[in-house]
Amino acid sequence: MDGIKRVLVTGAAGNIGYAIIPLIASGQLLGPDQPIILHLLEIPPCKERLEGVRMEIEDCCFPLLKGIVATTDSKEAFTDIDIAILVGSVPRTAGMERKELLSKNGTIFREQGTLLNQYSKKNVKVAVIGNPANTNALIAQAYAPNIPKENFTAMTRLDHNRACALLASKTGTSYSNVKNVIIWGNHSSTQYPDVRHAVVNGKNAIEAINDDTWLKNEFISCIQQRGATIIKARGMSSAFSAAVAAVNHVHDWILGTPEGKWTSMGVSSDGSYGIPVGVIYSYPVICKYGKYEIVQNLKIDEYSRALMDKTYEELLSEKTEAYSFLGLSA
Ligand code: NAD
Ligand code: LMR
Repeated sequence: MDGIKRVLVTGAAGNIGYAIIPLIASGQLLGPDQPIILHLLEIPPCKERLEGVRMEIEDCCFPLLKGIVATTDSKEAFTDIDIAILVGSVPRTAGMERKELLSKNGTIFREQGTLLNQYSKKNVKVAVIGNPANTNALIAQAYAPNIPKENFTAMTRLDHNRACALLASKTGTSYSNVKNVIIWGNHSSTQYPDVRHAVVNGKNAIEAINDDTWLKNEFISCIQQRGATIIKARGMSSAFSAAVAAVNHVHDWILGTPEGKWTSMGVSSDGSYGIPVGVIYSYPVICKYGKYEIVQNLKIDEYSRALMDKTYEELLSEKTEAYSFLGLSA
Protein backbone atom coordinates (compact mmCIF):
# COMPACT_ATOMS: atom_id res chain seq x y z
CA MET A 1 0.00 0.00 0.00
CA ASP A 2 1.22 3.51 -0.58
CA GLY A 3 0.30 7.09 0.27
CA ILE A 4 -1.84 7.96 3.23
CA LYS A 5 -5.07 5.95 3.60
CA ARG A 6 -8.19 7.52 5.05
CA VAL A 7 -10.11 5.13 7.31
CA LEU A 8 -13.61 5.99 8.49
CA VAL A 9 -15.15 4.56 11.66
CA THR A 10 -18.80 5.47 12.25
CA GLY A 11 -20.21 5.29 15.76
CA ALA A 12 -16.71 6.19 16.89
CA ALA A 13 -17.66 7.09 20.46
CA GLY A 14 -19.61 3.86 21.03
CA ASN A 15 -18.46 0.59 22.55
CA ILE A 16 -16.89 -0.93 19.46
CA GLY A 17 -15.59 2.46 18.32
CA TYR A 18 -13.70 2.88 21.56
CA ALA A 19 -12.09 -0.54 21.18
CA ILE A 20 -11.29 -0.44 17.48
CA ILE A 21 -9.66 2.98 17.18
CA PRO A 22 -6.37 2.11 18.94
CA LEU A 23 -6.12 -1.11 16.93
CA ILE A 24 -6.43 0.83 13.66
CA ALA A 25 -4.16 3.68 14.67
CA SER A 26 -1.42 1.34 15.91
CA GLY A 27 -1.12 -0.33 12.50
CA GLN A 28 -3.04 -3.55 13.07
CA LEU A 29 -5.53 -2.78 10.30
CA LEU A 30 -3.25 -1.97 7.37
CA GLY A 31 0.17 -3.05 8.58
CA PRO A 32 3.13 -1.36 10.23
CA ASP A 33 4.20 0.72 7.19
CA GLN A 34 0.89 2.29 6.23
CA PRO A 35 0.28 5.86 7.42
CA ILE A 36 -3.37 6.68 7.97
CA ILE A 37 -5.78 9.51 8.66
CA LEU A 38 -8.69 8.51 10.88
CA HIS A 39 -12.17 9.82 10.08
CA LEU A 40 -14.47 9.46 13.08
CA LEU A 41 -18.20 10.06 12.77
CA GLU A 42 -20.76 10.45 15.54
CA ILE A 43 -24.25 11.85 15.83
CA PRO A 44 -24.58 15.36 17.35
CA PRO A 45 -25.71 14.20 20.85
CA CYS A 46 -22.37 12.34 21.16
CA LYS A 47 -20.19 15.23 19.98
CA GLU A 48 -18.58 15.78 23.36
CA ARG A 49 -17.87 12.09 23.91
CA LEU A 50 -16.27 11.99 20.47
CA GLU A 51 -14.09 14.93 21.44
CA GLY A 52 -12.92 12.93 24.47
CA VAL A 53 -12.06 10.01 22.19
CA ARG A 54 -10.14 12.35 19.87
CA MET A 55 -8.08 13.68 22.77
CA GLU A 56 -7.25 10.15 23.93
CA ILE A 57 -6.03 9.14 20.48
CA GLU A 58 -3.80 12.18 20.27
CA ASP A 59 -2.34 11.28 23.64
CA CYS A 60 -1.31 7.85 22.33
CA CYS A 61 1.30 9.39 19.92
CA PHE A 62 0.73 6.65 17.32
CA PRO A 63 3.54 7.07 14.74
CA LEU A 64 1.38 5.96 11.78
CA LEU A 65 -1.44 8.35 12.56
CA LYS A 66 -1.10 11.44 10.37
CA GLY A 67 -4.39 13.13 11.20
CA ILE A 68 -7.81 12.84 12.81
CA VAL A 69 -11.08 14.13 11.39
CA ALA A 70 -13.49 13.81 14.31
CA THR A 71 -16.86 15.13 13.24
CA THR A 72 -20.64 15.00 13.38
CA ASP A 73 -20.79 16.22 9.78
CA SER A 74 -21.45 13.17 7.61
CA LYS A 75 -20.21 14.78 4.41
CA GLU A 76 -16.86 15.63 6.00
CA ALA A 77 -16.60 12.12 7.45
CA PHE A 78 -17.24 10.32 4.14
CA THR A 79 -15.14 12.57 1.89
CA ASP A 80 -12.24 10.82 0.11
CA ILE A 81 -12.15 7.81 2.37
CA ASP A 82 -10.41 4.58 1.26
CA ILE A 83 -11.95 2.29 3.87
CA ALA A 84 -15.29 2.55 5.67
CA ILE A 85 -15.88 0.57 8.84
CA LEU A 86 -19.59 1.12 9.43
CA VAL A 87 -20.35 0.47 13.09
CA GLY A 88 -22.64 3.38 14.03
CA SER A 89 -26.15 2.06 14.69
CA VAL A 90 -28.28 0.79 17.53
CA PRO A 91 -27.30 -2.54 19.15
CA ARG A 92 -29.93 -5.10 20.20
CA THR A 93 -30.70 -5.78 23.83
CA ALA A 94 -31.41 -9.07 25.62
CA GLY A 95 -34.26 -11.07 24.12
CA MET A 96 -34.14 -9.44 20.67
CA GLU A 97 -33.05 -10.95 17.35
CA ARG A 98 -30.70 -8.78 15.27
CA LYS A 99 -33.23 -8.50 12.43
CA GLU A 100 -35.56 -6.57 14.77
CA LEU A 101 -33.10 -3.67 14.33
CA LEU A 102 -33.75 -3.51 10.61
CA SER A 103 -36.28 -0.70 10.49
CA LYS A 104 -34.22 1.48 12.85
CA ASN A 105 -30.76 0.79 11.44
CA GLY A 106 -31.73 0.27 7.80
CA THR A 107 -32.34 3.96 7.29
CA ILE A 108 -28.84 4.76 8.64
CA PHE A 109 -27.35 2.49 5.98
CA ARG A 110 -29.49 4.03 3.26
CA GLU A 111 -28.04 7.42 4.18
CA GLN A 112 -24.52 6.04 4.42
CA GLY A 113 -24.76 4.30 1.04
CA THR A 114 -25.74 7.65 -0.46
CA LEU A 115 -22.84 9.40 1.30
CA LEU A 116 -20.35 6.76 0.11
CA ASN A 117 -21.66 7.18 -3.41
CA GLN A 118 -21.34 10.96 -3.37
CA TYR A 119 -18.21 11.68 -1.38
CA SER A 120 -15.95 8.65 -0.94
CA LYS A 121 -13.27 7.30 -3.30
CA LYS A 122 -14.83 5.17 -6.01
CA ASN A 123 -12.72 2.20 -4.89
CA VAL A 124 -13.64 2.58 -1.20
CA LYS A 125 -13.86 -0.75 0.60
CA VAL A 126 -16.80 -1.04 2.97
CA ALA A 127 -17.10 -3.33 5.99
CA VAL A 128 -20.52 -3.27 7.68
CA ILE A 129 -20.54 -4.17 11.36
CA GLY A 130 -23.84 -2.59 12.49
CA ASN A 131 -26.68 -5.11 12.73
CA PRO A 132 -28.36 -6.71 10.92
CA ALA A 133 -25.00 -6.53 9.16
CA ASN A 134 -25.71 -8.51 5.97
CA THR A 135 -28.90 -6.65 5.08
CA ASN A 136 -27.46 -3.27 6.11
CA ALA A 137 -24.57 -3.93 3.69
CA LEU A 138 -27.12 -4.77 0.99
CA ILE A 139 -28.96 -1.51 1.66
CA ALA A 140 -25.78 0.60 1.54
CA GLN A 141 -24.80 -1.15 -1.69
CA ALA A 142 -28.20 -0.41 -3.24
CA TYR A 143 -27.73 3.32 -2.60
CA ALA A 144 -24.19 3.47 -3.98
CA PRO A 145 -24.40 2.62 -7.68
CA ASN A 146 -21.06 4.36 -8.43
CA ILE A 147 -19.13 1.95 -6.24
CA PRO A 148 -18.45 -1.64 -7.36
CA LYS A 149 -20.84 -4.07 -5.69
CA GLU A 150 -17.98 -6.29 -4.56
CA ASN A 151 -16.67 -3.46 -2.37
CA PHE A 152 -19.55 -3.97 0.09
CA THR A 153 -19.03 -6.65 2.71
CA ALA A 154 -20.62 -7.63 6.03
CA MET A 155 -18.67 -8.92 8.98
CA THR A 156 -19.08 -12.58 9.94
CA ARG A 157 -15.46 -12.80 11.10
CA LEU A 158 -16.54 -12.65 14.71
CA ASP A 159 -18.59 -15.82 14.21
CA HIS A 160 -15.64 -17.37 12.36
CA ASN A 161 -13.27 -16.52 15.22
CA ARG A 162 -15.77 -17.85 17.76
CA ALA A 163 -15.99 -21.16 15.89
CA CYS A 164 -12.17 -21.47 15.77
CA ALA A 165 -11.94 -20.69 19.49
CA LEU A 166 -14.58 -23.26 20.42
CA LEU A 167 -12.98 -26.03 18.33
CA ALA A 168 -9.62 -25.20 19.90
CA SER A 169 -10.95 -25.37 23.43
CA LYS A 170 -12.86 -28.61 22.75
CA THR A 171 -9.68 -30.29 21.46
CA GLY A 172 -7.34 -28.64 23.98
CA THR A 173 -5.23 -27.06 21.27
CA SER A 174 -4.30 -23.51 20.34
CA TYR A 175 -6.65 -21.73 17.94
CA SER A 176 -3.64 -21.25 15.66
CA ASN A 177 -3.92 -25.01 14.99
CA VAL A 178 -7.49 -24.63 13.72
CA LYS A 179 -8.26 -23.55 10.19
CA ASN A 180 -10.89 -23.45 7.49
CA VAL A 181 -14.11 -23.38 9.43
CA ILE A 182 -16.89 -21.71 7.44
CA ILE A 183 -19.69 -19.41 8.46
CA TRP A 184 -22.39 -19.69 5.82
CA GLY A 185 -25.15 -17.12 5.40
CA ASN A 186 -26.45 -14.53 7.81
CA HIS A 187 -24.83 -12.99 10.90
CA SER A 188 -27.82 -14.17 12.89
CA SER A 189 -29.11 -17.17 14.76
CA THR A 190 -29.68 -18.99 11.42
CA GLN A 191 -26.01 -18.83 10.43
CA TYR A 192 -24.45 -22.22 9.70
CA PRO A 193 -21.03 -22.71 11.28
CA ASP A 194 -19.65 -25.59 9.19
CA VAL A 195 -16.71 -27.75 10.32
CA ARG A 196 -16.89 -30.30 7.52
CA HIS A 197 -13.84 -28.82 5.76
CA ALA A 198 -12.10 -27.53 8.88
CA VAL A 199 -8.74 -28.82 10.04
CA VAL A 200 -7.62 -29.17 13.66
CA ASN A 201 -3.99 -30.08 14.31
CA GLY A 202 -3.63 -31.22 10.70
CA LYS A 203 -6.66 -33.57 10.91
CA ASN A 204 -10.19 -33.14 9.57
CA ALA A 205 -12.19 -31.49 12.38
CA ILE A 206 -14.89 -34.17 12.43
CA GLU A 207 -12.25 -36.85 13.07
CA ALA A 208 -10.35 -34.66 15.51
CA ILE A 209 -13.49 -33.94 17.57
CA ASN A 210 -14.96 -37.43 17.15
CA ASP A 211 -18.32 -36.36 18.62
CA ASP A 212 -20.90 -35.80 15.92
CA THR A 213 -23.68 -35.14 18.42
CA TRP A 214 -21.72 -32.29 20.01
CA LEU A 215 -20.82 -30.86 16.58
CA LYS A 216 -24.42 -30.94 15.36
CA ASN A 217 -25.94 -29.57 18.56
CA GLU A 218 -23.90 -27.71 21.19
CA PHE A 219 -21.28 -26.44 18.75
CA ILE A 220 -23.71 -24.96 16.22
CA SER A 221 -26.07 -23.49 18.77
CA CYS A 222 -23.24 -22.00 20.86
CA ILE A 223 -21.92 -20.08 17.82
CA GLN A 224 -25.39 -19.07 16.64
CA GLN A 225 -26.25 -17.77 20.12
CA ARG A 226 -22.88 -16.43 21.23
CA GLY A 227 -23.79 -12.77 20.67
CA ALA A 228 -27.00 -13.19 22.70
CA THR A 229 -25.14 -15.05 25.45
CA ILE A 230 -22.63 -12.21 25.73
CA ILE A 231 -25.42 -9.60 25.87
CA LYS A 232 -27.06 -11.56 28.68
CA ALA A 233 -23.81 -11.76 30.63
CA ARG A 234 -22.47 -8.25 30.01
CA GLY A 235 -25.71 -6.34 29.71
CA MET A 236 -24.42 -4.99 26.40
CA SER A 237 -23.16 -6.46 23.18
CA SER A 238 -19.69 -7.74 22.40
CA ALA A 239 -17.25 -4.91 21.84
CA PHE A 240 -13.54 -5.70 21.83
CA SER A 241 -14.03 -9.13 20.22
CA ALA A 242 -16.11 -7.36 17.55
CA ALA A 243 -13.41 -4.71 17.14
CA VAL A 244 -10.68 -7.34 16.72
CA ALA A 245 -12.84 -9.26 14.23
CA ALA A 246 -13.49 -6.09 12.21
CA VAL A 247 -9.75 -5.41 12.09
CA ASN A 248 -9.10 -9.05 11.03
CA HIS A 249 -11.79 -8.72 8.32
CA VAL A 250 -10.37 -5.58 6.72
CA HIS A 251 -6.72 -6.58 7.27
CA ASP A 252 -7.15 -9.89 5.45
CA TRP A 253 -9.24 -8.34 2.68
CA ILE A 254 -6.56 -5.75 1.92
CA LEU A 255 -3.36 -7.59 2.80
CA GLY A 256 -4.43 -11.18 2.08
CA THR A 257 -5.44 -14.32 3.94
CA PRO A 258 -2.52 -16.43 5.20
CA GLU A 259 -1.28 -19.14 2.79
CA GLY A 260 -3.49 -22.24 2.95
CA LYS A 261 -6.22 -20.62 5.06
CA TRP A 262 -9.53 -19.12 4.22
CA THR A 263 -11.77 -16.85 6.23
CA SER A 264 -15.51 -16.08 6.23
CA MET A 265 -16.96 -12.83 4.87
CA GLY A 266 -20.44 -11.65 3.97
CA VAL A 267 -20.21 -10.80 0.26
CA SER A 268 -22.59 -10.42 -2.67
CA SER A 269 -23.98 -13.81 -3.57
CA ASP A 270 -23.04 -14.73 -7.13
CA GLY A 271 -24.78 -18.08 -7.49
CA SER A 272 -21.93 -19.97 -5.80
CA TYR A 273 -23.16 -23.01 -3.88
CA GLY A 274 -26.65 -22.52 -5.28
CA ILE A 275 -27.29 -19.30 -3.36
CA PRO A 276 -29.13 -16.97 -5.74
CA VAL A 277 -27.69 -13.57 -6.66
CA GLY A 278 -29.06 -10.62 -4.66
CA VAL A 279 -28.17 -11.01 -0.99
CA ILE A 280 -25.04 -10.52 1.10
CA TYR A 281 -24.20 -14.07 2.13
CA SER A 282 -21.27 -15.26 4.20
CA TYR A 283 -18.97 -17.59 2.27
CA PRO A 284 -15.49 -18.99 2.71
CA VAL A 285 -13.14 -16.59 0.90
CA ILE A 286 -9.48 -16.29 0.09
CA CYS A 287 -8.11 -12.76 -0.25
CA LYS A 288 -5.17 -11.65 -2.37
CA TYR A 289 -4.04 -8.26 -3.67
CA GLY A 290 -7.01 -6.45 -2.11
CA LYS A 291 -9.65 -8.75 -3.59
CA TYR A 292 -11.57 -11.70 -2.24
CA GLU A 293 -12.60 -14.85 -4.07
CA ILE A 294 -15.21 -17.31 -2.91
CA VAL A 295 -13.62 -20.72 -2.33
CA GLN A 296 -15.16 -23.03 -4.94
CA ASN A 297 -15.86 -26.75 -5.34
CA LEU A 298 -16.30 -27.68 -1.69
CA LYS A 299 -18.44 -30.78 -1.34
CA ILE A 300 -21.80 -29.95 0.25
CA ASP A 301 -23.73 -32.82 1.83
CA GLU A 302 -27.48 -32.91 2.42
CA TYR A 303 -27.14 -31.82 6.03
CA SER A 304 -25.18 -28.69 5.09
CA ARG A 305 -27.45 -27.94 2.12
CA ALA A 306 -30.50 -27.67 4.36
CA LEU A 307 -28.79 -25.30 6.81
CA MET A 308 -27.27 -23.17 4.02
CA ASP A 309 -30.70 -22.78 2.43
CA LYS A 310 -32.39 -21.93 5.72
CA THR A 311 -30.06 -19.01 6.41
CA TYR A 312 -30.50 -17.84 2.79
CA GLU A 313 -34.28 -17.85 3.27
CA GLU A 314 -33.89 -15.57 6.28
CA LEU A 315 -31.70 -13.16 4.28
CA LEU A 316 -34.28 -13.12 1.53
CA SER A 317 -37.04 -12.24 3.98
CA GLU A 318 -34.90 -9.47 5.54
CA LYS A 319 -34.28 -8.13 2.03
CA THR A 320 -37.99 -8.21 1.21
CA GLU A 321 -38.80 -6.32 4.41
CA ALA A 322 -36.02 -3.75 3.88
CA TYR A 323 -36.85 -3.17 0.21
CA SER A 324 -40.50 -2.71 1.08
CA PHE A 325 -39.97 -0.04 3.74
CA LEU A 326 -37.30 1.71 1.66
CA GLY A 327 -39.53 1.62 -1.41
CA LEU A 328 -36.89 -0.21 -3.49
CA SER A 329 -37.77 -2.61 -6.27
CA ALA A 330 -36.12 -6.04 -6.11
P1 NAD B 1 -23.03 1.51 20.85
O1 NAD B 1 -24.44 1.92 21.08
O2 NAD B 1 -22.11 1.41 22.01
O3 NAD B 1 -22.35 2.51 19.81
C1 NAD B 1 -22.97 2.85 18.61
C2 NAD B 1 -22.59 4.28 18.33
O4 NAD B 1 -23.10 4.60 17.06
C3 NAD B 1 -23.19 5.28 19.34
O5 NAD B 1 -22.15 6.07 19.89
C4 NAD B 1 -24.14 6.11 18.49
O6 NAD B 1 -24.18 7.46 18.88
C5 NAD B 1 -23.52 5.94 17.11
N1 NAD B 1 -24.45 6.18 16.00
C6 NAD B 1 -25.78 5.91 15.94
N2 NAD B 1 -26.27 6.30 14.75
C7 NAD B 1 -25.24 6.80 14.05
C8 NAD B 1 -25.12 7.37 12.76
N3 NAD B 1 -26.19 7.51 11.95
N4 NAD B 1 -23.92 7.80 12.36
C9 NAD B 1 -22.85 7.69 13.16
N5 NAD B 1 -22.89 7.17 14.40
C10 NAD B 1 -24.08 6.73 14.84
O7 NAD B 1 -23.08 0.14 20.04
P2 NAD B 1 -21.88 -0.89 19.75
O8 NAD B 1 -21.82 -1.88 20.86
O9 NAD B 1 -20.65 -0.15 19.37
O10 NAD B 1 -22.47 -1.68 18.48
C11 NAD B 1 -22.65 -1.00 17.27
C12 NAD B 1 -23.32 -1.92 16.24
O11 NAD B 1 -22.50 -3.06 15.96
C13 NAD B 1 -24.66 -2.51 16.72
O12 NAD B 1 -25.57 -2.53 15.64
C14 NAD B 1 -24.30 -3.93 17.12
O13 NAD B 1 -25.40 -4.79 17.09
C15 NAD B 1 -23.29 -4.24 16.04
N6 NAD B 1 -22.39 -5.38 16.27
C16 NAD B 1 -22.14 -6.20 15.22
C17 NAD B 1 -21.27 -7.26 15.35
C18 NAD B 1 -20.99 -8.21 14.21
O14 NAD B 1 -20.38 -9.26 14.45
N7 NAD B 1 -21.35 -7.90 12.96
C19 NAD B 1 -20.64 -7.48 16.59
C20 NAD B 1 -20.93 -6.61 17.65
C21 NAD B 1 -21.82 -5.55 17.48
C1 LMR C 1 -22.47 -10.25 18.23
O1 LMR C 1 -22.53 -11.23 17.51
O2 LMR C 1 -21.89 -10.25 19.33
C2 LMR C 1 -23.11 -8.96 17.77
O3 LMR C 1 -23.76 -9.13 16.55
C3 LMR C 1 -23.98 -8.33 18.79
C4 LMR C 1 -25.30 -9.05 18.91
O4 LMR C 1 -26.33 -8.38 18.83
O5 LMR C 1 -25.29 -10.27 19.10
